[in-house]
Amino acid sequence: MTAPGPDSLLEVRDLRVRFTVPGGTLSAVNGVDLVVRSGESVGVVGESGSGKSATCLAILGLHPKGTRVDGSVLFQGRDLVQLDDRAMRSVRGKQIGLVYQDPMAALNPVRSIGAQLREPLMLHMGMNRKQADDRAAELLARVGIYNARRQLRAYPHEFSGGMRQRIVIAMAIACQPPLLLADEPTTALDVSVQAQVLDLLAELTRDLGIALVLISHDLGVVSSIADRVAVMYAGRVVEQSAAIPLFDAPRHPYTSMLLDSISEVENLARDEDLPTIPGAPPDLRRLPPGCPFAPRCPRVEERCLAENPPLAADRPDRQVACWHPVSPETAVDLEGVR
Ligand SMILES: Nc1ncnc2c1ncn2[C@@H]1O[C@H](COP(=O)(O)OP(=O)(O)OP(=O)(O)O)[C@@H](O)[C@H]1O
Ligand SMILES: [Mg+2]
Repeated sequence: MTAPGPDSLLEVRDLRVRFTVPGGTLSAVNGVDLVVRSGESVGVVGESGSGKSATCLAILGLHPKGTRVDGSVLFQGRDLVQLDDRAMRSVRGKQIGLVYQDPMAALNPVRSIGAQLREPLMLHMGMNRKQADDRAAELLARVGIYNARRQLRAYPHEFSGGMRQRIVIAMAIACQPPLLLADEPTTALDVSVQAQVLDLLAELTRDLGIALVLISHDLGVVSSIADRVAVMYAGRVVEQSAAIPLFDAPRHPYTSMLLDSISEVENLARDEDLPTIPGAPPDLRRLPPGCPFAPRCPRVEERCLAENPPLAADRPDRQVACWHPVSPETAVDLEGVR
């Protein structure tokens, strides 16, 4: 488990999220440990279904009713898992901003942009309408919307997808929260604007001293802005490290294979299939007893099938959950397991 630093802002400890599904329980998050320090950016990466969004929603208390959430989410001295709905609403509006994949889901289509930007400012910051209007225009300008004051009267459908996501980012930072969670913030956007929106997120959070948790299935996206990276597999963090050492010398075989598949994409000829990691993630309704990556792992040994390795300190500021981590000399060869 990660040792909390003195400046840790968010400490997720042994978070578990279980959904009730027909015929049983689906264990989407199985003991996530994650620390975010003030002002840093942490990338959370993993394949589809690895529990990234379920973790994010549970941190914010936005999971559907009937979901079982255990563990703790310490934020500024309080455990968010224990807070009631009313207290969580205030945390969400004021202290933790959220940006997710589809900007239209975050915006109300029948209210003007100005009305939606004013709301948190008046509710949480005690501003009057004039002050909130001035601040809303400033925020829109800050995220790159031209003629900001005039645009306050416009409605969401009048903007392109990229511009809408800029508006959602303005709303998310309106109350200057110390933490912003961004769940696949560019996945639904045109490729041509993805990099611009990512750059905006990176620049704004850096300039305003906001800590950023950037969730993505795309290691390339995460590598461009994260100071630290947590790699998720089957509802757990399997490797966590400063970004550069993780990309230079991954320790978990899954991280290593993810990185290999990216470099293969970069070298891909037009008519080749996209490389993927062979095999499929486990069925989260009945997880195997050992390491959930074992059935796909080229380094699997007997112990891996019997015991699930804990996320343990490996090197300074680095944790890995693996009985047989990769060393730089024995990097996993993806070709070898196809
Ligand atoms: N409300 C729900 N009810 C039942 N199962 C759910 C629910 N939400 C998510 N799941 C399941 O939980 C697992 C984790 O889902 P989650 O959305 O957290 O994955 P993810 O890592 O965000 O994937 P993606 O990259 O596709 O967004 C998946 O198996 C998913 O099908
Ligand atoms: Mg998701």
